[in-house]
Amino acid sequence: MTNHVIIKDKIKNFNKIIKVSSDKSISIRSILLASQAIGTSNISNLLESEDVINTLKTIKKLGINYRKIKNSYKIYGFGLNGFNFKRKTIINAGNSGTLARLILGLLVKSRFRVKLTGDKSLSKRDFSRVIKPLRLFGVNIKSKNNLMPIEILGTDFLRPISFFENIGSAQVKSCIIFAALNTPGNSIIKAKRSRNHTELMLNFLKYPIKVSENNNFDKISIQGLKQFKGFNYDVPGDISSASFFIVLTLLSKKSSLIIKNVNINPSRIGIITILNKMGANIKLKKKKLYNGEDIADIYVKSNSNLNAVNCPAKLNSSAIDEFLIIFLAAAKAKGISRFKDLSEMNKKESRRLDLGIKFLKLIGIKVDRFKDNINIHGKPNLILSENFEIKNFLKDHRIFFLSCIAALTLGGKWKINDKDSINSSFPHFLKILKTIGAEIN
Ligand code: S3P
Repeated sequence: MTNHVIIKDKIKNFNKIIKVSSDKSISIRSILLASQAIGTSNISNLLESEDVINTLKTIKKLGINYRKIKNSYKIYGFGLNGFNFKRKTIINAGNSGTLARLILGLLVKSRFRVKLTGDKSLSKRDFSRVIKPLRLFGVNIKSKNNLMPIEILGTDFLRPISFFENIGSAQVKSCIIFAALNTPGNSIIKAKRSRNHTELMLNFLKYPIKVSENNNFDKISIQGLKQFKGFNYDVPGDISSASFFIVLTLLSKKSSLIIKNVNINPSRIGIITILNKMGANIKLKKKKLYNGEDIADIYVKSNSNLNAVNCPAKLNSSAIDEFLIIFLAAAKAKGISRFKDLSEMNKKESRRLDLGIKFLKLIGIKVDRFKDNINIHGKPNLILSENFEIKNFLKDHRIFFLSCIAALTLGGKWKINDKDSINSSFPHFLKILKTIGAEIN
């Protein structure tokens, strides 16, 4: 089986309604919280991607059973710290930084040492950001240079912590919240604002967690050891997956798209704010609230008059996974777009800031870089006709998606490698592209 796609033609105009895959962050959190509930949880529309399957495999290794019945996963929890596993248990988190960081938070009381490993990309990512706060709880963690493999051994003498999370990382914040669930007393996090699915889900479960907002920070207070019961949860669509289709539509001619039932949590929709600042006119309709999360249908139309944006750094966290595709919109916009403080992009599945700049240069776009700030010199008339090959990107799914959208909107003949990377977040990506008319081999 080949592991690449060939794209030789731009997509023809389309007017369609689609659904994208379910949200990855919410899927992983719903499984991990169900593993801590007492009794059965039913999670429907769970994303069936590698990162999420690895989360299911992880709880199974830790003694929590699950079963799929029709469209719903039943997870049978034994309560907080209800894991039951053997000595020398090894967890492989695959490509998922979220799973790896969050599960550490749930292992703070583990009786036996657990070894955490991951794939080539995850093995390059820094875990000091979670190791530091976990050690404050009293947990024993071994790791060379803060990289995988990581060994964690819990303790019965956990103490609540007060921690200042100043990266704006939801993975760090959620790891600490998970550790606090298992710790007696009140733990407090002052966290630079980032996606808040964990807090909303705990709220939905009526867990005693309090959040107060102050400028760009949240003060989160969590009472430990308050048990919650099994729950029902329905996972909405993923804005990060939708974002590739939004930009595809914007950069195509005479096209329109409706994307149904997408999570529009304010901490996730930086891309919509940024593209609308560029003149995109993306609309959110049929807004509703379910399970504590905001959901809507997204309406987007082609726009050949995008303007450059001066992107405020305070939007970075709410668009952190979308910058690659935002850069492509900036490449086609009139004027110079400016982005600041993007160092976190280089801490993802690949060094996305470096690779994003490399990609823009490859398609003939001038980019100035000053440390982690970049200026993109847009070319509204950019049309490509050369051959391109995209390879060696540590199987970063978002680089693959970006390359497909560039090929379908700018022209040229593309060979894009590492097709299987799509399985980590959005296995139906190519299928959905084909339903709206993309020719992909
Ligand atoms: C995620 C948080 C973000 C994001 C990642 C998913 C999460 O990472 O990039 O894709 O589900 O908590 P950071 O927390 O490191 O910013």
